[in-house]
Formats: sequence, C-alpha cells, structure tokens
Amino acid sequence: MSSIKVSAVDRLNASFEVPGDKSISHRAAIMAGLANGSTQVDNYLPSEDCLCTLNAMASLGVTFEVLDEMDGYGPTSMIIHGQSMQLSAPQEDVDCGNSGTGMRLLAGMLAAQPFESVLTGDASLCSRPMGRIIKPLLQMGAKIQSEGKPEGCAPLRLGGSEEKLSAISYEMPVASAQVKSAILLAGLFAEYETTVIQPNETRDHTERIFDHFQISSTSKNNHIAVHGGQVPTARDLHIPGDISSAAFWLVAAAAMPGAQLTIKKVGLNPTRTAVIDVLIRMGADIQIDVLSDDQGEPYGNVRVAGGQLQGTTILPEEVPNLIDEIPVLAVAGALASGRMIIRNAKELRVKESDRITTVVNNLTAMGADVTEFEDGMEITGGKPLHAAEMESYGDHRIAMAFLIAGLFAKGETLMHNTDCINTSYPGFVDHLHSVLPASSH
Ligand code: S3P
Repeated sequence: MSSIKVSAVDRLNASFEVPGDKSISHRAAIMAGLANGSTQVDNYLPSEDCLCTLNAMASLGVTFEVLDEMDGYGPTSMIIHGQSMQLSAPQEDVDCGNSGTGMRLLAGMLAAQPFESVLTGDASLCSRPMGRIIKPLLQMGAKIQSEGKPEGCAPLRLGGSEEKLSAISYEMPVASAQVKSAILLAGLFAEYETTVIQPNETRDHTERIFDHFQISSTSKNNHIAVHGGQVPTARDLHIPGDISSAAFWLVAAAAMPGAQLTIKKVGLNPTRTAVIDVLIRMGADIQIDVLSDDQGEPYGNVRVAGGQLQGTTILPEEVPNLIDEIPVLAVAGALASGRMIIRNAKELRVKESDRITTVVNNLTAMGADVTEFEDGMEITGGKPLHAAEMESYGDHRIAMAFLIAGLFAKGETLMHNTDCINTSYPGFVDHLHSVLPASSH
C-alpha cells in the first residue's frame, strides 16, 4: 500500500485539465453498450471505478475498441459497439470494485434481464446499503436478493425472470442520483411509464444522457419519467472534466493568497456546481468561461485567484449537489476564518468511508477545531493546521482532501493508503507534484 508525503507550499500557479467525469463515464459505458449501433466515447475516465463498469458491460456481450489510453491506467477514447438492449449472461460474478455508482446503476439494468447475474465488489462496497435500490426494484417485480452481510448489502443476485418489469411511480426517501438512475435504467426495460420522485434535486446526468441517446424522458418538479421499450440511438459523446476532481484544486487555490489556477474544460452541469457557489459565498474569486453546452453537458474553464476565505453554512438543498465535495469543503472551512456549518448530510456516513467520522478524525489530527454531529460537522476555522500522519480509510476523496490540507500545514504530512486515489482521479499525484516545489518530490 503506498503513501504520499506533502509539505506546505506558498505559491500555486497552474493550469491543467482534470480527467473525465466519473458519473458521466459510468453512464456512457452503460448507454453506449445498450445503444443500437457504435458510439465513440472520448475523455472516458480511466479510473478503477469506471473501468469496472466498462468491464461489466464487456462481460454482458458489449465489445469496444480502444482508440486512446492514459498511460498506465486505461482507455480514454473508444468505440463501443452497442447491443440494441440485448445483453448476454455473464460467465462470472460482475465485479464493481469500490464503486457504489457502478453497482447501483448496473443493478437497475441487470434486474430487468431474463438471465441471472451476481454483482459484487470490494469490502467497502459490500458494506454499503443496497436496500435503497432493492426495494423499488422488487416493487417493479424484479428478482433481486442480497447475499451479503449485513442484510441488504452486496453481493446481489438479480434478474432471471422471463416476465417484463412493471412500471412504478416511486418516491425516493433519500435524494440519491444513484437510486434515481437505477430505477430509470430498469424502467427502460419495463412496460409503460416509470416515474421517480426525488425529495430534492440530484445530479441529472442520466436524464441528459437519455436525451443524448434519443431516449425520451420528462423531468418536472422533481418527477422524472421514462417510458419502457425505447432503444438508445448510438451517438458519439465527449465527456467533460470532472468537477469533483477539480474541486480539490479549486479549494487549494481559493484558500491560498496569490494563487492563480485555471482548470480547463471542466463539466459545469448546474446540478454539480454547488461547490463553486459555496466557494464564492466563502469569498473566493472565481471566474467561469463557458465554452460549450454541446451534447447536453456544459463545460468551460474555471479560473481562481487565491485569497482569504470565510466560513459559511451549507444549505440543505445544496447537499445532494456537492455531496462528494464535502470532504474538501471541510478543509476549506478549516482554512477559512469564522464558522463553517455542514448539516443535513447524513448520507456522508454511507459513502466509500463514513465521511463524517473520517473527515472529523483527519481535521482533528491536523489541529483544526471541529465538532461532529450525526448529520454533519461544525468547523471553527482559522486555527493554523499542522502536519500529521493520516489514514485515507481506503477512501479516495479523504486521501485527496487531506493531501490538499497538507499543502497548508506546517511540517510534513504523510497520507497512508493512497492507492484508492485511482478509483476516481488517475493522474492526481502528477498534478500534486506539479504544484509542489521541486525539492519536495
Ligand atoms: C453519483 C451520485 C452520488 C455521488 C456519487 C456519484 C452518481 O451518490 O456521491 O459519487 O453518479 O449518480 P448518491 O446519488 O447516492 O448520493
């Protein structure tokens, strides 16, 4: 297991692109694989999570040709030959690795298949709640069974019924784009119209990619509906950079007086940009140049000039749209003056790690003033951070958030167990080295 050391930097002047969006990459592999022809997908994220989804589709009969790769990681550009909604049974259990998104989206699709399959993953994934997708899929008439411990966890055995799924109207108890997407993907194979009602807006990549592949769906007042029996029309797709990956650098630059940073061609889907709104509210100097909203997913360049941040309160309705950025926003809170309040974020406890506890542990290790709540935390910023030896808890976003914190801490910060970074951000370490002084690596 590898570790990474960082120490404080006093300048940051950089301009780069982050790799492709993770949420869109999962959906691109699935939808291109279900489409009625060949789709060229560019800027696919070659992270372990997204490679698992691509391999899952390959194990279901989808073939693809690689056009370009990121050295040492995997394909970034490929032609995926869709199977016109006709998948074949996998020979083995389908491994989703560390990816909750991969497992939940694939579960929606596989629950609707006439063949049986088993979805599994690593220890972290097999401890995360799957009841949230099992319940609605059972209501649709799917066969789906948790074979994990505790009850309701993966491995999941699913599919294998000759009967078509029935459409449902399902009100989600938690605002989850993964659950919404699992139901909509199952709905593509169901009879009549399936509707998902979300308690709050969640990322809308599934709706946008449906539109891209000419699947008609409707979305109004948090009711999203799709009619079954449609076949996606193959159409080339370019994936923008991942704003969740960019967020680490946006925070680093925003909190460092004198810093100048441009993240190029990053996704600016309004259901993902709450992190930028919060940073601006904290006093960050951020400029956005929209380059395109082509193919349904807007993207552009984001420029940040560093300064002194102030704490803020994250609003309840913002939480689903910045859920993955909370670890690094908590770091921003520790670097800011005043109080940062993060509540209504209990979902953090069921991510790749319990991100309330893991963030609080690492902030405390670095000397920050933080109080833990069941649904979040409160940080009183401004106390100087000191270097610490920390655990990633096998969670990519914890590893990266606290390496960023290390750029502001006195002494040498050591992060253990950093291989997990490759689940979402291959190339992070190169970007980190590019901002560190030459003597420190
Ligand atoms: C994702 C949705 C979010 C997010 C995850 C990706 C998606 O999860 O945390 O990293 O691609 O749909 P929930 O929707 O379960 O909160």
